[in-house]
This record gives sequence, C-alpha cells and structure tokens, in this order.
Amino acid sequence: MAKTVIMEHPMIRHKIGIIRRKDTSTKDFREIISEIAMLMCYEATRDLEMHPVEIETPICRTTVEELGQKLAVIPILRAELGMVEGMLTMFPAARVGHIGLYRNEETLEPVEYYCKLPKDCAEREVFVVDPMLATGGSASAAIALLKARGVKHIRFLCVIAAPEGIRRLQEEHPDVDIYIGTVDDHLNENGYIVPGLGDAGDRIFGTI
Ligand code: PRP
Ligand code: URA
Repeated sequence: MAKTVIMEHPMIRHKIGIIRRKDTSTKDFREIISEIAMLMCYEATRDLEMHPVEIETPICRTTVEELGQKLAVIPILRAELGMVEGMLTMFPAARVGHIGLYRNEETLEPVEYYCKLPKDCAEREVFVVDPMLATGGSASAAIALLKARGVKHIRFLCVIAAPEGIRRLQEEHPDVDIYIGTVDDHLNENGYIVPGLGDAGDRIFGTI
C-alpha cells in the first residue's frame, strides 16, 4: 500500500480555513488555492530522486544534486486549474496534461469529456491534482485513464477529502501516494463534502 499523507503545516491549515468561508471572494479563493497547492507540492515532492552533477563554483569544482525525474502535472478539469499555477511555481519545467471529467449530478459518477496528455507522460512522475476528493469517483477514473496509457508513477494531491473518497482511492489504486490538505467529516446526500467549501469549480471561476 502506498502512503496517505495528511498535511499538518499551520500555513496550509490557515489557508484552507480562509477558502472555506462563503464570503471569500473569487479572486482571493483563486489566489489562495494556488498558494495551498504550492505548499502541498513541497511536501509531496519530499522523496523525489536526485542525481549528482559536477559543477564549478567561483571557488572550486564540487558536486551538487539535481532532480533526476521528469515531472508532469495533470489537473482534472476544471476546478483543478486553480492549483496548476501554484505547482508550476515549484517546478516550472513540468509538462501539463488535462483530463476533463464532471460528476453526473444524479449518479455522482464521473463523465469523461477531454484528455490531452504530454507524449512522454508514461516516463514521467505524474501529479494528479484536484481540490476536492468527495466520492473519489473523479480521481479514481482519472488515475485509471492514466494507467491505461502506461503511466506508472502517480501521486494524487487534493485540498479537502472526505473519508469515503480516501477509502475508495486506497482500494482502487493502492499503488498511488495520496497527499491531502485536510480530511473532513462526511458527504451529504448530494455528495458534497461537509463542512467542505461548496463547489470548488464554481468558487474558482465565479460561476455560482
Ligand atoms: C468536482 C471536483 C472533483 C469532483 C470530486 O468537480 O473538482 O473533480 O467534483 O467529486 P468526486 O470525488 O465525488 O468525484 P465537478 O464534477 O464539480 O466538476 P467541475 O470541476 O467542472 O465543477
Ligand atoms: N465537488 C466539489 O466541488 N465539492 C464537493 O464538496 C464535492 C464535490
């Protein structure tokens, strides 16, 4: 079983508290979710492989370490677009793929409508990002789609998770590391996370 990491950092907890508020503006919501993604990225990249490279400082030759893996960020449209900017601040050379999924409001099952991935995605360390892990249907479907295209190294990052979604992801993709900003109480009868923050896509794009 891969690991499930819940972020403990006070900066992340504080910022999640702000985006939960219903009177937080679209502008602030967008900026803060990007900052949260950047902070979470720091934790989720802690075990990336490094390789030694010989360089010259103004004083002498020495060996430094460089990241040894090619990276890709895959947001699940559309709410996740808010997190991509923060992730790219941390690793600007990463490629970005997009998977378009929305939840059918009655069945709560994900419906795929778009997929465009970097050509060499299968060789990359892939970070799938989504602010909300509710039933887990969208995240699980996105990860299955990546695996079907040969991607082997996948990490999943979300800001708020429901226990139901965590269980589903762990069961359906036991090989994927999961990084979570915070775990909420439960899902309501409409599949929304409680207390949550509402519909993440609507809040990021102001489409409420
Ligand atoms: C939201 C969210 C996740 C999904 C989580 O997307 O961004 O992708 O719901 O729910 P799940 O774990 O039950 O699948 P939504 O379907 O609202 O689409 P949107 O981002 O286009 O608004
Ligand atoms: N998707 C959201 O955007 N919010 C939830 O609470 C659940 C799914």
